[in-house]
Amino acid sequence: MTAVAETIAALRAQVQAWRSEGLRVALVPTMGALHDGHISLVRTALERADRCVVSIFVNPRQFAPTEDLDKYPRQLVQDLTRLAEAGAHLAFTPDVGEVYPEGFATSISVGGPSAGLETAFRPAFFDGVATVVGKLFIQVTPDVAVFGEKDYQQLCVVRKLCLDLNLPVEIIGAPTIRDAEGLAMSSRNAYLGADELKIAQKLNKVLRKAAAALEAGSDEQATMAAARQEILDAGFDELDYVEARASLTLAPWQRDREGRVLVAARLGKTRLIDNVEIAAS
Ligand code: PAF
Repeated sequence: MTAVAETIAALRAQVQAWRSEGLRVALVPTMGALHDGHISLVRTALERADRCVVSIFVNPRQFAPTEDLDKYPRQLVQDLTRLAEAGAHLAFTPDVGEVYPEGFATSISVGGPSAGLETAFRPAFFDGVATVVGKLFIQVTPDVAVFGEKDYQQLCVVRKLCLDLNLPVEIIGAPTIRDAEGLAMSSRNAYLGADELKIAQKLNKVLRKAAAALEAGSDEQATMAAARQEILDAGFDELDYVEARASLTLAPWQRDREGRVLVAARLGKTRLIDNVEIAAS
């Protein structure tokens, strides 16, 4: 059974009890609608710590008014069953008023890796993420926290947040879990119809081809232009970006250095993001 804490006070009491026994605590922050990708984060957390807290909170501050906050899948009962099966110890499930009480007026803004990519299309997104993650780190005081590499820019922003604010949390980036066709697991995949799913499954193939071309020495601009065309030809309605960036800093990618090809593309009402590694040659 996974215990549930709905309040910060209950969460803190449990974490303090563990600390008094000398146990190491891991945090996996989520917005719920848990899939195999999340469960793999829980497994990673359990390898690194004695106790695993999973937060489930659909964070309104990281959604623009035009985005899918109301529609975002919420399935707490199933999530708790999956967490119990995975062996998570505590689910932290605060409501919006617990996290952002009336009059809440503080925001954390991380520069550096938050520039461009997602921010060009979702300007308030990383302030919302950094604010809630900062609060979760203060509430849970985890030794380690696990984030998926699927949200690669988010992972870089969280690492920078910890570095700049000297937060004593080890950040682990866990590999993206994919379906048999390579589609990255995402709670938003639930929005995809059968035909859209087939198109979505092509995204990762285009990225892998682009990364392999860059590793083999192809021209960056030409490779990205080809990837752009292939994504649109595959049936995506709109391409927000496909770019090569340096790992961690997300500065412009430099040949022979480790990097990532990152993409965001829209299919009907669904926006998909993904990224793959460019190995250093
Ligand atoms: O990746 C997510 O699900 C969210 O952005 C996070 C890290 C839980 C913050 O709300």
